[in-house]
Amino acid sequence: MDLFEQSRQEEILKDVHLLRGFALPDQNHILADLSAVMMAAPLRQMITPGGLPMSVTTSNCGALGWVSDKNGYRYAARDPKTGTPWPAMPSSFRQLAEQAANTAGFGYFNSDACLINCYRPGAKMGLHQDKDEQDFTQPIVSVSLGIPAMFQMGGFARGDKTLKLPLYHGDVLVWGGESRLRFHGVMPLKPANHPALGECRINLTFRKGG
Ligand code: SIN
Ligand code: FE2
Repeated sequence: MDLFEQSRQEEILKDVHLLRGFALPDQNHILADLSAVMMAAPLRQMITPGGLPMSVTTSNCGALGWVSDKNGYRYAARDPKTGTPWPAMPSSFRQLAEQAANTAGFGYFNSDACLINCYRPGAKMGLHQDKDEQDFTQPIVSVSLGIPAMFQMGGFARGDKTLKLPLYHGDVLVWGGESRLRFHGVMPLKPANHPALGECRINLTFRKGG
């Protein structure tokens, strides 16, 4: 690894690694695979357990998909919209997630779920913990594509102060270990346009759900 690459990879908090531009080398492949997945399992607005529509639109690929409805949050093997299994996780996705986890020092990542969230300008994600998974020893790999967003990494209580990180097309954030249950979220997106994805930010969240 040369000095330039090193400077693009930073442990910003214990067990939280920011890999700038990590998805760029294989982006054409990833974007083509993403578009095929979204054809098979179209983005839709999920409803929170409280009955409110989320501001992002959502899909999944992999053996399990994260879903939300009036009964709560959970992982499900089938797309509730079509009743069929979620599209398989493309090998470009799997490789990216494994390589990012390994680069961040998590040598054992075996993701079975890729959540796809689309943020249009104004969409956001409130502070939350990822805790619908069975195994918190597995890290989370989060890939940003399209227009920029301001990500917030918080502490272990909702009210803790947050670190604000701008995330750009191709950036990958990996967290696990001591930081696995940190609160995190995304501030409302500002209007912008990306040459490949238009007025949209796609976030791929790789996790081991089951
Ligand atoms: C999430 O944690 O659900 C979203 C993360 C992101 O969009 O960057
Ligand atoms: Fe999350």
